[in-house]
Amino acid sequence: MPAVPMIRLNNGVEIPQLGFGVFQIKPADTVQAVSTALEIGYRHIDTAQMYGNEKQVGQAIARSGLARSEVFVTTKLNNDKHDYDVALAAADQSLADLGLDQVDLFLIHWPLANVTDYVQTWRAMEKIYADGKARSIGVSNFHTHHLRKLHDETHLVPAVNQIELHPYLTQDELRGFDAEHGTATEAWSPIARGRVLDDPVITAIAAAHDRTAAQVVLRWHVQLGNIVFPKSITPERIKQNFEIFDFELSDAELGQISALNRNERTGPDPDQFDHIPS
Ligand SMILES: NC(=O)c1ccc[n+]([C@@H]2O[C@H](COP(=O)([O-])OP(=O)(O)OC[C@H]3O[C@@H](n4cnc5c(N)ncnc54)[C@H](OP(=O)(O)O)[C@@H]3O)[C@@H](O)[C@H]2O)c1
Repeated sequence: MPAVPMIRLNNGVEIPQLGFGVFQIKPADTVQAVSTALEIGYRHIDTAQMYGNEKQVGQAIARSGLARSEVFVTTKLNNDKHDYDVALAAADQSLADLGLDQVDLFLIHWPLANVTDYVQTWRAMEKIYADGKARSIGVSNFHTHHLRKLHDETHLVPAVNQIELHPYLTQDELRGFDAEHGTATEAWSPIARGRVLDDPVITAIAAAHDRTAAQVVLRWHVQLGNIVFPKSITPERIKQNFEIFDFELSDAELGQISALNRNERTGPDPDQFDHIPS
């Protein structure tokens, strides 16, 4: 199986283009799922304080016997931790829970622009980076107007913007904006939590390549340059989602899949999302 390509972030740090997402994996199932992924060959895990499974992610990495430098670990600041000092303490808590001295990527999970000051939060992220607690920092669920404000008012350009992105929500403008400013785009819910897998355009392309619909969609992401981390608790799917580097979609097929865009979200619009857990 060909190696997973590496994407170079704007500070020179390299991230595997394919990773493993652990949203909605129960803590009790997380060690098993992450261990399976690491055995198959995944070297990038995407977790978050909100997911409640950082400890188990850390345990699986420790048990794997892999060197720390071999596994890229992302976590995200929770929505109730946006105040400057609270964010600094939350980063320390994540490191303690993961059992790591440093994460590879730390993200602001949601901008929450209606209820918090994400510019202040980004300044805390810059401090966390300067202190060496994260090798790179970025944002998640930021629209162009959020990014512009950060560019205008702070020093560091986010290394990553992690956004909902799949064939029914292709986010062309935001992807273009990210690329223009040196920010890598990560695609969350890359298979739209399964909703795109019955689409006849996708199933026809899958049949033509003798692949599954999920493999075709993940391959579409990779050829577009997106970073992806599909989630599964099913070993066969975890394996299948990793086997996407030994076939290629044509430009015409990529175009057919991109043309499925309906601007349809599976999750909330970041401009409306302002939930802070109590
Ligand atoms: N930043 C954010 O706000 C945000 C939001 C959402 C997600 N994320 C990140 O993105 C990751 C992935 O997104 P997601 O978990 O929302 O959705 P997803 O990866 O698009 O879809 C996951 C769902 O698809 C199923 N699935 C996985 N592989 C499959 C395959 N080969 N064939 C058929 N079904 C398959 C899984 O089922 P089983 O598990 O039952 O196999 C699960 O129900 C998350 O884990 C998280 O790391 C970030």
